[in-house]
Amino acid sequence: MSSLLVNIDHIATLRNARGEGVPDPSMAAQVCEENGASGIVFHLREDRRHIKDADVWQLKKVVKGVLDFEMAATDEMIGISLEVQPHLVTLVPEKRMELTTEGGLDLSVASEDLRKRVIPQYKGTGITISLFVNPEISDMERSADLGVEAIELHTGTYAHAFRDGNYRFELDRLVKAAERAHELGLLVNAGHGLSMQNLPPFLEAVPHLNDISIGHALVCDALFEGLPAMVRRMSELISGSN
Ligand code: PXP
Repeated sequence: MSSLLVNIDHIATLRNARGEGVPDPSMAAQVCEENGASGIVFHLREDRRHIKDADVWQLKKVVKGVLDFEMAATDEMIGISLEVQPHLVTLVPEKRMELTTEGGLDLSVASEDLRKRVIPQYKGTGITISLFVNPEISDMERSADLGVEAIELHTGTYAHAFRDGNYRFELDRLVKAAERAHELGLLVNAGHGLSMQNLPPFLEAVPHLNDISIGHALVCDALFEGLPAMVRRMSELISGSN
């Protein structure tokens, strides 16, 4: 059965805008889990632009379900993840200037480094490795060949195509990639750009989905769900005071 993992990076972005400790990503993580999320995703970036090291340890303490540590496969991040012992490490490409993770791993280039330097360090740790990859059959086959347990299908191109109104081709790529990954014995996770609008056709079409990781759209919608109630409460408080 598929389940939701909430990416809480954007809660940290908002917290960092003021530097006063609120909103607290670990408190958000607890709210997400109390309301049906199966777990929490965070991306500790090299530049620490949103999640900070202290957040990682706090999340490790409070998250009851799946803890998914999204990271670049640098020696620094591998070291931190081995100390933290999340359930899942999702390996992503990371570029300093990008606004968000722009594409999947280029396994035609990264495979040998993953095979020799990265994957052996997780042997026997109980941590599941997931590779964030584009929905290409060749990447499903390369992932299986590397011996990882899971892949996360990059759904960003589908999300863009959905916004442009012509998404059948991208949806079909995801369907074929998910089928092939499943056939090869890989767990099929997915994420990037998914929203209340583009999720229904995605969920209907793509088989074998396991964890679905959603951050930006969920946090944006949460703001607008909460804004009316907060404006009412604050204006009642202010008008009631005079
Ligand atoms: N999965 C991965 C690997 C990501 O890099 C991101 C973005 O941080 C997500 C899922 C979630 O994407 P979004 O914030 O667009 O929902």
